[in-house]
Amino acid sequence: MAVNMPGVLVVSIKFAWLCFANASPIREKIEKWVIDEGENSKGESTIKVVIIDTSSLVSIDTAGITSLVELNKNLTLHGVTLSIANPRWQVIHKLRLANFVNEIGGRVFLSVGEAIDATILSAKMATV
Ligand SMILES: *[C@@H]1O[C@H](CO)[C@@H](O)[C@H](O)[C@H]1NC(C)=O
Repeated sequence: MAVNMPGVLVVSIKFAWLCFANASPIREKIEKWVIDEGENSKGESTIKVVIIDTSSLVSIDTAGITSLVELNKNLTLHGVTLSIANPRWQVIHKLRLANFVNEIGGRVFLSVGEAIDATILSAKMATV
């Protein structure tokens, strides 16, 4: 499920597990939305920030982590920033151990609202 507002795509993962069985299809779906379908007529991505809401996620395995790492690399390549919102401690613990939290610049937020606030704030700061 995805909520779209200008420049920001909020993706809610509605699975309890992110694992070998669903990680690749989820990654590909997000890449398709952002990279393949998110481009305007000039070939620029209209989506600048992707926020993944992980509140339903109870656990993540190495395949799940790998797909997030690869997703982040691909989004970064296209100038898109990735944030994580609402992670449970089991999930964030594993993402920290895998150094993923560092790779996304520590952009982990307690709620989607906070992630959006941080995005708006950085957008304002960038235009000053
Ligand atoms: C990035 O995503 C695009 C769009 O789906 C895909 O075609 C491409 O293979 C991906 N690139 C990498 C390096 O994963």
